[in-house]
Amino acid sequence: MTSRIAVFGTGYLGATHAACMAELGHEVLGVDVDPNKLAMLEAGEVPFYEPGLEEVLRRNIAAGRLRFTASYEEAAEFADIHFLGVGTPQKKGEFAADMRFVDSVIETLAPLLTRPTVIFGKSTVPVGTAERLGARARELAPAGQDVEVAWNPEFLREGYAVKDTLHPDRLVLGVDRHRPGRAESVAREVYEQLLNEGIPFVVTDLATSELVKASANAFLATKISFINAISEVCEASGADVTVLADAIGHDERIGRRFLNAGIGFGGGCLPKDIRAFMARAGELGADQALTFLREVDNINMRRRTRMVELAREACGSLLGANVAVLGAAFKPDSDDVRDSPALNVAGQIQLQGAAVNVYDPKAMGNSKALFPTLTYTSSALDACAGADVVLVLTEWTEFRKLLPSDLEAVVRKKVIIDGRNCLEPTTWRDAGWTYRGLGRP
Ligand code: UGA
Repeated sequence: MTSRIAVFGTGYLGATHAACMAELGHEVLGVDVDPNKLAMLEAGEVPFYEPGLEEVLRRNIAAGRLRFTASYEEAAEFADIHFLGVGTPQKKGEFAADMRFVDSVIETLAPLLTRPTVIFGKSTVPVGTAERLGARARELAPAGQDVEVAWNPEFLREGYAVKDTLHPDRLVLGVDRHRPGRAESVAREVYEQLLNEGIPFVVTDLATSELVKASANAFLATKISFINAISEVCEASGADVTVLADAIGHDERIGRRFLNAGIGFGGGCLPKDIRAFMARAGELGADQALTFLREVDNINMRRRTRMVELAREACGSLLGANVAVLGAAFKPDSDDVRDSPALNVAGQIQLQGAAVNVYDPKAMGNSKALFPTLTYTSSALDACAGADVVLVLTEWTEFRKLLPSDLEAVVRKKVIIDGRNCLEPTTWRDAGWTYRGLGRP
């Protein structure tokens, strides 16, 4: 069945969701307050790098199923199913999430709702938000008690956003148990194709659905920090964390995924989500339960410092050294540099007196905007020109494929530090390079 849907927010989450809902055959209106983003999307351009998304966007615009607008009035008139996909960044100077964008959608949209409506929240929010927004929306809306707020958390990964939206591991829906309504049946219509594929559909209460999302990201962050903590012990004892991860990963209860040791996690989700989770648990009087996430955060941040130390050891002193940095995005196949470990390391090294030359296949524009004082080059080879040490900080395929012979003619010293354990040590050592990985002998 075709539904009419409005999606609020056209960032990673919203733009992907809007395009993918149209791909499922629905009529979709994407809504944002940023005229630049809207103009790009209307022209069939994705304002960020996400493999495969542009094709889906263009195909559905051309088919007339997908449009964009800045007008909430138009959205309220067009659809009775609304998805909320705006950002919940970390508040400046505190751990808690900044709810102003989410709140502002409800404050603006709700007074325009004159017909029975379901609003599905997708943003990552502190537990208790959905219930609060539901009450507020009913208070503001002319349709009053006929407005429902349900929660449908999103688990997509950047770089796999289209696949994760159209073929997710699971769908989760939180509904208001105190006010039985239509949310579940509407969700079943919207996601009919996915449900027919047999994708697990977990229907629960609002609080559980909000906590599912926070817990999933906390678990992933913990898994990465676990292996990075073990990597510190490997460094102290001469063991190899990559072999160790393979070995423990064979145990299905543990699993090999998200056990890649290196300079740790960054991006617009995991770091701020574990902090917001701690802050919310504190407000609820359950802060002790999540103190371990402090340590998860500390272990993660320590890896960045360790990378800077390794670069210093390699150069003798960072003062006046020439450092090549390959990778600026927080992970490969993304141009996102929000809380990127790579850019953070590059910045620290520069602040300690080195000249830092950065190259990233997709994240140059965003990096320059965030860190204009670093030097940006137009290729990996240019970044390595005259380098005393080469640092691989994001595991782009282009860097994984580099051979010692590619760089030998341009570097000053044959030293490479693999911040993502993505290179083959013997290839580099056999060619006469000094190779160092994190948590490897
Ligand atoms: C993460 C979650 O994986 C998604 O499920 C979730 O929907 C999303 O956050 C979100 O909340 O919106 P994403 O931020 O795209 O997705 O990135 P990940 O693939 O999770 O990687 C996060 C960071 O961990 C990256 O910096 C990556 O380099 C690092 N990482 C990942 C490691 O250091 N080691 C690993 O083994 C895996």
